[in-house]
Amino acid sequence: MYIPNENRYRDMVYRRCGGSGVKLPVLSLGLWHNFGAITPYGTQRDLLRTAFDCGITHFDLANNYGPPYGEAERNFGRLMDEDWRPHRDELFLSTKAGYDMWDGPYGNWGSRKYLVSSIDQSLKRMRVDYVDVFYHHRPDPETPVEETMGALDYIVRSGKALYAGISNYGPAEVEAAIKELKRLGTPCLSDQPRYSMLGRHIENGLTDVLRREKTGCIVFQPLAGGMLTGKYLNGIPADSRMAVDNRFLKPDSLTEDTLRRVRALKEIADARGQKLHHLALQWVLRDEVITSALIGASRPEQILDNVQILSMPPLSGEELRRIDEILA
Ligand SMILES: NC(=O)c1ccc[n+]([C@@H]2O[C@H](COP(=O)([O-])OP(=O)(O)OC[C@H]3O[C@@H](n4cnc5c(N)ncnc54)[C@H](OP(=O)(O)O)[C@@H]3O)[C@@H](O)[C@H]2O)c1
Repeated sequence: MYIPNENRYRDMVYRRCGGSGVKLPVLSLGLWHNFGAITPYGTQRDLLRTAFDCGITHFDLANNYGPPYGEAERNFGRLMDEDWRPHRDELFLSTKAGYDMWDGPYGNWGSRKYLVSSIDQSLKRMRVDYVDVFYHHRPDPETPVEETMGALDYIVRSGKALYAGISNYGPAEVEAAIKELKRLGTPCLSDQPRYSMLGRHIENGLTDVLRREKTGCIVFQPLAGGMLTGKYLNGIPADSRMAVDNRFLKPDSLTEDTLRRVRALKEIADARGQKLHHLALQWVLRDEVITSALIGASRPEQILDNVQILSMPPLSGEELRRIDEILA
């Protein structure tokens, strides 16, 4: 039987998610990779236990995380029965729909038909009565925002999710979605965009909207899938994502320009006496508009390593200026 670390809430920092009543850990764990059929079940169990033992209460899923699609939710469901049911009220669980999930016209994008069917499937796979937040995973250019947000509102009102969220929306789309959800009386808890030192697009207007609208911002891929650990500076290690499961992280993302930036950033981390991924996580979290950084991990030691940032000194103005120069 799993007995969580009794000190799990001692060191973690929790930030308020926008203007809501919810606080989330500054590091959350995503189940996109390493929770499908190609990862040993025991590793998955240890990843979740290690995270929770460190105070990471937020686990992020989506209908199509795997492989195959649905497998991460299915594995989570088994673990829900084995480990997590006694701790359900201490967990903040999310899932999403918006990308391709099943064949035919109703298993993709943003219709009410897709989202409502998908949340029902997710709840069954995850073996829970409700998730804490249900996201529309990406904007749908063809479905009216009123229909998609209406579906999120319905899902919250029917008790299948406690909060609604959106992901991968641009600033104008975020603004329209927030406005519509507000009109419906189900405020948008959080946006979930990509953000890292290698991808700063959210600084071009999106964070301004979220700050103004008091909406949370839970950023994904703060380590650029592992590129901001420095592990790819001398080739592709055999046990890395790029070697083991490179469905989304291709060797051609290791351009000369990226490697040059990563090398220069690593020098700053070295001078601070920390690892590059510590610098990358602290940098993403430097502005309180960011509620949480959603990390992935292939082994529990990485989670233990990443939470070390909680006791590291903040970045100085001079360090931030040098980082800006490198990333310019
Ligand atoms: N909303 C969306 O559209 C969307 C899209 C993508 C992701 N997400 C969410 O974001 C989550 C995180 O994505 P991600 O896994 O790509 O994020 P990430 O944190 O940028 O990358 C995680 C990977 O970096 C490596 N790593 C992490 N800590 C390390 C350490 N201390 N030392 C060495 N290597 C380390 C591991 O890869 P190795 O395998 O190389 O060890 C790990 O799997 C996903 O699980 C998902 O929940 C959402």
